Amino acid sequence: MKLLFLNGPNMNMLGIREPDIYGRQTYADLEAYIRSFCQELGIACEIFQSNHEGALVDAIQAAWGKMDGIVINPAAYTHTSVAILDALKAVGLPAVEVHVSAVSERESFRQVSYAGMACVKTFAGHGFAGYRMAAEYLLSLEKR
Ligand code: DQA
Repeated sequence: MKLLFLNGPNMNMLGIREPDIYGRQTYADLEAYIRSFCQELGIACEIFQSNHEGALVDAIQAAWGKMDGIVINPAAYTHTSVAILDALKAVGLPAVEVHVSAVSERESFRQVSYAGMACVKTFAGHGFAGYRMAAEYLLSLEKR
């Protein structure tokens, strides 16, 4: 199984940005964690982060015909981007939404998730472990 892991704006600032909310581990730590659990689970992975909405849309489109699923943390674009929602719908790959923080317990503007409308599952508030939970969920779908 091949999975694309996508992270949106400011996720490259993990470890620096609001550590009380997002923790002290860095984006490099997150990448290393993803690579290590993917190896353990026998998943081939591609990992991409961008601060630009269009670059995320391009990466979703490029996954079509190439990847078996998408794990996406669209970060702030979660709450604003119809373009990312449409891209996920366009490629039709099973996608799982991940948030490091417990978005449901945060500000009202974070209560809408456009990307989530095209996702089969959401894991929020589990820190980095949410990415592994998402990968395991996609793996379980494939084995069904
Ligand atoms: C986030 C939650 C979003 O609301 C926020 O804009 C982010 C990160 C998370 O992983 O908890 O940048 O997606």
